[in-house]
This record gives sequence, C-alpha cells and structure tokens, in this order.
Amino acid sequence: MEEFVIPHMNKFGAECINEIADIAIKNGCNKALIITGPNLERIGISAKIKNILNDANLEYVVYAKVKSNPTKNNVYEALKLYKDECCNFIIGIGGGSPNDCTKAVGILASNGGQLEDYVGLNKSEKKAPLTMIVNTTAGTASEISRAYLISDDERQEKLIFKDINALAYCSFNDPELMTELPANITASTGMDALTHAIESYVCKGRYTLTNKMAVAAMELIFENLREIIKDPLSIELRENMIYAQFLAGMAFCNSGVGLVHAMAHQLGAVYNLPHGLCNAILLPYVMKYNNKTCELEYAHLAKRLFPDKCGEKSNEECAHILIREVVSLSEAIGTSIKLRDIGVKEGDFKLLAEKSLHDGNIYKNPIMPSLEDIIDIFKNAY
Ligand SMILES: [Fe+2]
Repeated sequence: MEEFVIPHMNKFGAECINEIADIAIKNGCNKALIITGPNLERIGISAKIKNILNDANLEYVVYAKVKSNPTKNNVYEALKLYKDECCNFIIGIGGGSPNDCTKAVGILASNGGQLEDYVGLNKSEKKAPLTMIVNTTAGTASEISRAYLISDDERQEKLIFKDINALAYCSFNDPELMTELPANITASTGMDALTHAIESYVCKGRYTLTNKMAVAAMELIFENLREIIKDPLSIELRENMIYAQFLAGMAFCNSGVGLVHAMAHQLGAVYNLPHGLCNAILLPYVMKYNNKTCELEYAHLAKRLFPDKCGEKSNEECAHILIREVVSLSEAIGTSIKLRDIGVKEGDFKLLAEKSLHDGNIYKNPIMPSLEDIIDIFKNAY
C-alpha cells in the first residue's frame, strides 16, 4: 500500500496570497500568529501579509526571530506568543525554517507537552490549528510537507518529526514574492529541490507516482534554474521553479529522501549552515557512491533529460553524464564549492558520520552506508 499526502489546498500564481484573509474568515479565525525570520520581516514580505489581514479587519501578532536552522527556543517563544495573545490560526512565511517552526508550534498549541514528545512518526493526537504557509523560495517544499526539523542546540542534533497533524491547511506559491530573492538563495534552494527529486527517484520508498513527479521536477529544474540566476525578475521562470519544487516536494514527501539529506542535516545542526547549500555540495559525491546500485536509474534519467548527450552510449556512461550535468548546473549557479569553504572541520567527520547514521532518512537510501563510507564521502566533498 502507498500513501500520498499533501495539504488540503495549494494556491499558485501572482497575488494568490490575497486569499489568506478569506480562508481565515471562512474557517472562523480572527487572530493570527505570523511566524517568519528576521530577513523576510526586514525586506517587507510579511508586510504584504499584514496589509491583507488589516484590510480584512483580522488581528495578528508577529514572531520574526526564527533562525536559519530553527531552534527549540524559537518554538517555545512563538508558542508563548500564540497562547498569550489568544491567537486561533497560524501563518508561516518562509522558505523552510519559519515553516518548520510553524508546524512545531501548531502541534504543541493543539496537543500540549514538549517537543521531544512528538519526535518520530505521527506522535500527536490532535490537528494543529488552522495553518497557512506562504512559500518564499523554490525550494524546500516545507510548505507542503508534514515533516519538520528543529535544532537541539545543546546536543547539536536535529529533532525530526513527521506528523500528518502538522500539515498546512493551505500553501501559497506567489512568484511575485520570489523576484527579490538573493541569487545565492535562489541557487541553493533550487539545488535542494533537485536533491529532493534525485533522492526520491532512487530511494527505497519510491513508487510510480513519486517517480513520475520526480522526473517532471528534474526537467523543469535543468531547464530553468540556470536561466533564473541570469533573469531573476522573470515571473515565468519563477513560476516554472515553483512547479518544479512542488513536484519534487510531492515526490519526496511521499517517498522519502536518502543519504544526502541524512548528511546535510548534520552540517546544519553542528555548523548552522544553509540546508540547500549543504545538499548542493554533497549531492554529486553521494550520487557517485550510490551509483554502484543506482547506475540503471541514473542512466534512465540521463537518457530522458539529456537524450542528445546519451545517444547510444552504455548505461555506465549515461549514469556518469547525469552526475556531470548535476555538477555542471551547480558550477553555473555558484553552489559547486567545497565543505572547507563553508567552515566545516575535517576533524569533525567521524562525529558527523555517526550522527548521519542516526538520521532516519538514511534508511531510505538505496544502499545502507557504513561509518567509513560516510566519512569518505565527507572527505571527497572537503
Ligand atoms: Fe531538503
């Protein structure tokens, strides 16, 4: 049996965020907790949402302190605000981190207790309050995922949750919100989406529906991500990447991911590094490692995505073409750097590899790696 889960509603297109107020009113809600990060608050994206709420005479309070890897403290501060201010719905605004914080606050608001009570799969009993998530990148797909990660700073670990009750009621994908994204964020979040699609396509949880979505996502990413770096104001390119990240999100949220994510999560937890960039750096090296069992799948993808380059070449050669194309895209958009360039310490590799082995995503990887295998991948990416 397979199970396919996405939010109740998903809105696309310029100005789709205008519907936030209507949805709140129709569901009997009148006071929002807006959860976002300091940068999004500063550049005025949350101001657009506040204007929509003001025009509809809906009240709100704002929590805008979510860190790039959201912490337990972020969740408890936002939860306190939700309760103290008697809010009855939540609006997450973000490309990933605020959305994870939003889901955690929703689960605790409805169910009580501590974060640790809900680590794992479907541990809560009650649905989160009405939650709407405004996506600001393309992307993490966190707006359509029931999974969320919170950093435990003391233990330098990520707490990983996957809970149907945390799923947003409605996601919003408005390309006009993304035209001001800095190029490095567009690039790294785009590579996150590519990682979702590639890991979904070969992981142990894949099935026909997720594979079809993953391929469609990859087609759009290879066609649009280079171009969008050159032409960031293009609404058409932004929309194409929105659909790409949404397709990749539907794929991996229902199939799982793999070793790239298991390793990248540790870099995020230990060094507070951006998730998409960590994935972009690790992806080619994990593909080379997985190639011993995924050669056929990689070759299928290469023949589908790059038919002119594959011609009549062997599966072995076609698999390498796919890996080279991933590296080429990453080089073109500026994410092809080394772990040493972003402050990762070689002496931490054993610790990082041990933590990777405890990340649930590793069990979906097509091969179960050893500690030494993971250390070697970190060394190759260093
Ligand atoms: Fe990801």
